[in-house]
Amino acid sequence: MDLNNKHVLLTGASGGIGQEIALALEESGAQVTLVARNEEKLEQIRYSMANPDLHSILAADLLTPEGRESVVIHAKHQVRINKAYSVVINNAGSNQFQFLAQRTTESIEREVQLNLMTPIALSQSALGWLRRPGIILNIGSTFGSIGYPGYATYCASKGGLHRFTEALDRELDGSGIRVLYLAPRATDTELNSKQVVDLNKKLGNRSDAPQAVAKHVTEMLEKEKTARWIGWPEKLFARVNQIFPNVVSRSIRKQQETIHYFINHTNK
Ligand SMILES: NC(=O)c1ccc[n+]([C@@H]2O[C@H](COP(=O)([O-])OP(=O)(O)OC[C@H]3O[C@@H](n4cnc5c(N)ncnc54)[C@H](OP(=O)(O)O)[C@@H]3O)[C@@H](O)[C@H]2O)c1
Repeated sequence: MDLNNKHVLLTGASGGIGQEIALALEESGAQVTLVARNEEKLEQIRYSMANPDLHSILAADLLTPEGRESVVIHAKHQVRINKAYSVVINNAGSNQFQFLAQRTTESIEREVQLNLMTPIALSQSALGWLRRPGIILNIGSTFGSIGYPGYATYCASKGGLHRFTEALDRELDGSGIRVLYLAPRATDTELNSKQVVDLNKKLGNRSDAPQAVAKHVTEMLEKEKTARWIGWPEKLFARVNQIFPNVVSRSIRKQQETIHYFINHTNK
């Protein structure tokens, strides 16, 4: 899709990856609606863009029915004023690096709601107001393909998001709407606590700049790539895990002691 003059709805726009996606979309000529809870931060980001007047913000808590409804009402209004969205990017997400036994039920429900149920609900709604041709891009994670200790529910939600994306893209084949999936690996944003950053350093895991993820987003939209995993060796492990999960289990077993240490003994 040529992004020039296209209207894009971007959730999680106040976050580390979201704000870079907004800037990259603007560079490609798109007009962006930035969605998140923190209105002040959204305004700051809008004013950091080259042409703030071309873009807009929408403060909404996607964990509440009212917040989700406000996005839908706004999107339907765009259809009426002939500014219908051509692209929706489900990027808002959260996680907690903790063992399942340490989690509260409420924190699990919020995580699964934001990472999985909200993109599903927004995608379903978008079928009624997205312009054709249109694209829904869901931001997943390497952990959507590899079950990893300390991230059981995050892996579940992103794995679910991947399968949802794949199924819906096939369901909508020929309809004019594509549904794409991008899986970043660790990225330098506030999503990752110091504990996680230190763990990644200790394990030698690489972390990308959010600008690099944003570049993949515009490339995927422009080339309409079905799915992409960012980074070596993560994209290889994602494949190996599908075919030989025991190989990946053996490799993670060697990290168990370190993972337990970081979860149980370091500051969050
Ligand atoms: N960073 C990584 O290592 C990494 C790796 C792989 C995948 N990802 C995925 O990339 C996406 C972006 O992550 P990030 O690293 O940019 O995280 P981040 O910096 O923590 O940003 C998260 C974004 O989600 C929004 N959000 C959180 N709760 C919300 C709610 N209830 N309602 C509406 N918006 C909400 C936040 O805005 P407000 O707080 O203002 O609402 C913020 O804009 C996520 O889906 C994440 O899972 C990240």
